[in-house]
Amino acid sequence: MKRIAVLTSGGDAPGMNAAVRAVVRKGISEGLEVFGINYGFAGLVAGDIRRLEAQDVGDFLGRGGTMLYSARYPEFAQLEGQLKGIEQLKKFGIEALVVCGGDGSYHGAMRLTEHGYPTIGVPGTIDNDIPLTEYTIGFDTAVNTVVDAIDKLRDTAASHVRTFVVEVMGRDCGDIALQAGVAGGADAIVVPEIEYDLAEIAERIRVGRERGKKHTIIVLSEGVMSGEKFATQLEAFGDFHTRVSVLGHIQRGGSPSPFDRVLASKMGAYAVDLLLEGKGGLCVAIQQNKLVGLDIIDTLTNHKHIGDLSLAELNNSISH
Ligand code: F6P
Repeated sequence: MKRIAVLTSGGDAPGMNAAVRAVVRKGISEGLEVFGINYGFAGLVAGDIRRLEAQDVGDFLGRGGTMLYSARYPEFAQLEGQLKGIEQLKKFGIEALVVCGGDGSYHGAMRLTEHGYPTIGVPGTIDNDIPLTEYTIGFDTAVNTVVDAIDKLRDTAASHVRTFVVEVMGRDCGDIALQAGVAGGADAIVVPEIEYDLAEIAERIRVGRERGKKHTIIVLSEGVMSGEKFATQLEAFGDFHTRVSVLGHIQRGGSPSPFDRVLASKMGAYAVDLLLEGKGGLCVAIQQNKLVGLDIIDTLTNHKHIGDLSLAELNNSISH
């Protein structure tokens, strides 16, 4: 193998740059030529491909976003786009591809695998919703960002004796809400994976108020419903002086945490190792601090991500 390429796709995640850097530098140190594809699968189909040298990825380790840019490109679900993508790769003499992204990007990588093109997926998404890996690149940084926001919101909540509904990202996965909720001392964490009871949440707020508690923080995962809708439903159980804070895309930005930088560096370099061993059609995962390469088709077809749902119960028992 002489030439490989790397792309980032879907929602950007802090640490994607560190993963790209690792693929490029590890590839070069193993004697490979490494190419970067701009704008994910959209750029692949358009042939927006450039050779990357070791210095091209310098100074990106600590930067958020992705130096290769990204795109949502649902068109890649069509056969025509997939074949065009493979044609572009062959035109550049590129023999294998590393795709760093989330669920949609993994499906793109799976399609290339089905066509027999050697592809390795590296999990890059703040959502932490990829099956069989305990962590995805960007999740830890996003959790840190949310905890920082909760700490600030508590200051203003306490000053006015208010309830804040903090809507966080994660798509259908509650991991950001669960981790940030426990770390931020939320009064309630509401996630798609677990049934919730508004009357019970309202009662907790009331009991807290009676005890003199001045602030209430409810961390709500976007996959349940919007913060505004949740606040309206909650107010039907009493006037809790509710405000809503939608953290939005702030959660995707910022300098990656050391954890994400290390994870991305390990995963990017490991993806190159797998390709050098002649292995394609895999996705990189971390399980009990060990890197593994799993069959990407099996991973996406037969498995679902399950987060640490025990955090909700833990939170209920310690945050009253
Ligand atoms: O998948 C990452 C993510 O940030 C989700 O948490 C969120 O639902 C979605 O992307 C937002 O997508 P977009 O940036 O396309 O609006």
